[in-house]
Amino acid sequence: MSKAFDVVVIGGGPGGYVAAIRAAQLGFNTACIDDWKNALGGPAPGGTCTNVGCIPSKALLQSSENFEQAGHHFADHGIGLTNLSIDVTKMLGRKNTVVKQNNDGILYLFKKNKVTFFHGRGSFVKSGAEGVEIAVAGAKPEALIAKHVIVATGSNPRALPGAPFDEETILSNDGALRIPGVPKTLGVIGSGVIGLEMGSVWRRLGADVTVLEALPTFLGAVDEQIAKEAHKAFTKQGLKIQLGVKISEVKLAKRGALIAYTDAGGKEQKFECEKLIVSIGRVPNTIGLNAEAIGLKFDERGFVAVDADCKTNLINVWAVGDVVRGPMLAHKAEEEGVAVAERIAGQHPHVDFNTVPWVIYTSPEIAWVGQSEQALKAEGRAYKVGTFPFMANGRARALGDTTGLVKMIADARTDQILGVHIVGPYASELIAESVVAMEFKASSEDIARICHAHPSLSEATKEAALAVDKRALNF
Ligand code: FAD
Ligand code: NAI
Repeated sequence: MSKAFDVVVIGGGPGGYVAAIRAAQLGFNTACIDDWKNALGGPAPGGTCTNVGCIPSKALLQSSENFEQAGHHFADHGIGLTNLSIDVTKMLGRKNTVVKQNNDGILYLFKKNKVTFFHGRGSFVKSGAEGVEIAVAGAKPEALIAKHVIVATGSNPRALPGAPFDEETILSNDGALRIPGVPKTLGVIGSGVIGLEMGSVWRRLGADVTVLEALPTFLGAVDEQIAKEAHKAFTKQGLKIQLGVKISEVKLAKRGALIAYTDAGGKEQKFECEKLIVSIGRVPNTIGLNAEAIGLKFDERGFVAVDADCKTNLINVWAVGDVVRGPMLAHKAEEEGVAVAERIAGQHPHVDFNTVPWVIYTSPEIAWVGQSEQALKAEGRAYKVGTFPFMANGRARALGDTTGLVKMIADARTDQILGVHIVGPYASELIAESVVAMEFKASSEDIARICHAHPSLSEATKEAALAVDKRALNF
């Protein structure tokens, strides 16, 4: 006998678990199926984000940043330390605890909101007049029938052809988050978000890190001025970044991995490293979903095909998050999950991709919202730019972290803010103000006229806004 639900969500990552909670809040009898297992084989909802993504990476970034501060910057404050050491086992243990707190938090939220949780793999059986039938394969097999289905099955790391992840030497994000000791040498293929964040973690702890990137430009999607500033800072810290390389072969060697590649000058090169992180993007995950059973369509890149409202080709079947088009970000997945639950309830929500913030949690952090200067130039749009360096910000000086700047771009005619780009301390937090401003279609003058606390890093945003009108006060 199948258990009947109004809404069944397949996948318990940020897209899925948030969709399930919102659906339950709206009064639907809701279930969420997730197959992630913790070390003991028990449920670990939260998906990539909680288990091997956002949360553990930020835990390690914090630990390694503390180590870096203690080793290189505490002395500036008059704090002396001798025999500084890092206990990697303890650091990884702390990270695992943080992950578990988040897993448990989601299980608690399911209970609180009366979402029925099934631990196992969900696959489509068939679709009929009563709804969509789904089988759950887990410790306790279940048969469900749903009026509405939300597919939120996420993504998996993309491997290099001929070099599968063994998570010992050739590492995806998963292995990169649990290297048992600091490697002497670490190779990173792909200087995207994961490559830079994980490369930073292990570099701060003492690894000699080389990053090999195929594209000739560094962080191509980021505003050029910001990317240039970040590149300068990372290089100064010791990250060896090579752009425009072509990887010919990656193979396991006696003591690590051996990479053969052609450098930007066309020269054949060989590079050996103890551990290798491959972070060249991610692919949608629809493994084992048995989508054919109900005729669910994919696009040419393997994502579940959806329209702007996350509707698939099938009535009452929706898809959100990494498994559909758009940025692979936890907060984008969450917004889509909430929006779909509300659409099922007959509401009319809207997710605006142009105001989705992006953050790279390196040091300095990089964060942006809206369009880059190069994108606006290519579009032929007339714009004005204001920048303000953290060097001229009192709080940044007090923090001892004056790298970077805030850059605000506004429409030349209307002054509406078109993009804000930050490289510098706490950029991840600072960007929120600009997201709100853009959501409310604010002008740079609006930000310039708002009272900002002193001394605070947010004054740099106000000053950048003033600079759009060429009237910065402190620079
Ligand atoms: P996922 O989080 O991948 O969740 C999908 C879930 O569905 C998984 O638990 C999976 O096991 C389960 N599942 C799949 N198929 C089935 C099935 N058939 N039956 C049952 N369960 C199934 N984004 C940010 O915004 N900020 C960050 O700081 C950030 N850092 C990241 C760091 C790393 C190292 C990585 C890899 C990613 C990071 N991301 C970050 C991206 C973020 O993790 C993803 O965008 C987000 O997890 C996508 O959410 P989702 O719900 O679509 O999918
Ligand atoms: P990415 O798309 O950010 O970067 C991949 C990089 O690899 C690109 O620069 C690309 O040019 C390069 N590349 C591709 N093929 C290559 C090859 N054969 N040789 C050398 N370089 C190659 O992907 P990444 O870092 O794997 O992360 C995946 C996604 O996870 C991101 O797009 C992001 O959405 C999400 N994420 C978000 C984070 C955040 O919000 N802070 C943190 C980490 C991941």
